[in-house]
Amino acid sequence: MPRAYVETYGCQMNEYDSARMRDVLHEHLGMVPTTEESEADLFLLNTCSVREKAQEKVFSRLGRLAHYKRLSPEVLIGVGGCVASQEGETLRQRAPQVDVVFGPQTLHRLPELIEQARAGRTAVDISFPEIEKFDNLPEPSVDGAQAFVSIMEGCSKFCSFCVVPYTRGKEVSRPFDDIIREIASLADRGVREITLLGQNVNAWAAPMHDGSPADFALLLRFVAAIDGIERVRYTTSHPREFTDSLIQAHAEVEELASHVHLPVQSGSDRVLAAMKRGYTAIEYKSIIRKLRAARPDIAVSSDFIVGFPGETEDDFEQTCRLAKEVQLDQSFSFVYSPRPGTPAAELQDGVSLADKKARLARLQEQLEAQAQGIAQSRVGTVQRVLVEGPSRRNSEELAGRAPDNRVINFVGSAEMIGSFQSIQVTEARAHSLRGEWVDPGLS
Ligand code: SAM
Ligand code: SF4
Ligand code: F3S
Repeated sequence: MPRAYVETYGCQMNEYDSARMRDVLHEHLGMVPTTEESEADLFLLNTCSVREKAQEKVFSRLGRLAHYKRLSPEVLIGVGGCVASQEGETLRQRAPQVDVVFGPQTLHRLPELIEQARAGRTAVDISFPEIEKFDNLPEPSVDGAQAFVSIMEGCSKFCSFCVVPYTRGKEVSRPFDDIIREIASLADRGVREITLLGQNVNAWAAPMHDGSPADFALLLRFVAAIDGIERVRYTTSHPREFTDSLIQAHAEVEELASHVHLPVQSGSDRVLAAMKRGYTAIEYKSIIRKLRAARPDIAVSSDFIVGFPGETEDDFEQTCRLAKEVQLDQSFSFVYSPRPGTPAAELQDGVSLADKKARLARLQEQLEAQAQGIAQSRVGTVQRVLVEGPSRRNSEELAGRAPDNRVINFVGSAEMIGSFQSIQVTEARAHSLRGEWVDPGLS
């Protein structure tokens, strides 16, 4: 059987798309996935261009993959995702070893594109045929009790620093019935926890079966009510659409995990305006305050960009203060990377790279200390953990995620995989917790 090696860069939407690529290649071309480069007949790189480094990684990887083509000319190389979408035809000028270029919205056309490439014809398709992709993909395969479901494509926010609206196209919501059907089918096949995905997942809006309008908060209520679904997560949400009805859902829907990822990017209103984020620091803090009133145990994580053009020391201090005030948990932070074609790339930037890196190090140290403090406060508590499989640190142990998204490692038996178990936290480590299984008969 021919084998496909699919490598994923970037966000969870790309992870979801890569899983769909494996499904489509299996269904239409009888290809099986492999993790062994030397046995691959097809390499697919599902790429990310959010920062320059992510994009450059792809080109150096392509350089190394050319080796397999030299060994065996019938080996095919395809590039999908955001670099493909941004570069299109020009990608093949820089990397002529590439046979197929496809975008995030055209991965369902992979079988035809591969046939085309096999016949020696150019195979480039980075168009945005909106929701057609989902109508043409096979039923998602199930791998464990946790699954991702994309409910939105694209982004229409056009933050001044970001490539995503250009690489993924405008925001399009998947139809209500499609989403419910996909999740019900996953639940029938043993899935217990669903993560709804979108670049602005809470911007989702579509009519329901009777034609009445539904927003993201209502969709969450329907998803949580599906038989078998015991926990619901979503990512990434945007402060602009974090509505009161969504906050209310956190108060009332038990299945919603006690964690949200809500990127703030900066704590300075001046920088937020230049980023075109569409909210102020006070508005962000007010969302978190209401959310904590609705769900006191909720953990909030965030993303930050440090060293946006013109960011002063004072702006940066405001970012650090905000992160502390709202007690953000396990967050991500990056040095600003100018992206070609985005408005911010044209801005004058007086801050040196050394200063930006020093600010990033300071913020990361603070965020790390905050996350460590929150982890420490979990010691002694009992957490409801969906057991995912053997621990990455020690294959004798099992690992799963607590409601706040922290990984917990513990000693257990293989039958627990795929089920919820109660684990008492005994130790907080840098990026995970350790715990002991609690016999439900004793609690
Ligand atoms: N849609 C999400 C939102 O609005 O918060 C974020 C999606 S983006 C793919 C993930 C993160 O990458 C962003 O939250 C931001 O912190 C970071 N990012 C995006 N563009 C960047 C750039 N040009 N330089 C550095 N970091 C960037
Ligand atoms: Fe990029 Fe902004 Fe859209 Fe997020 S909301 S994907 S940061 S443009
Ligand atoms: Fe990267 Fe595209 Fe996701 S730029 S972060 S793969 S949407």
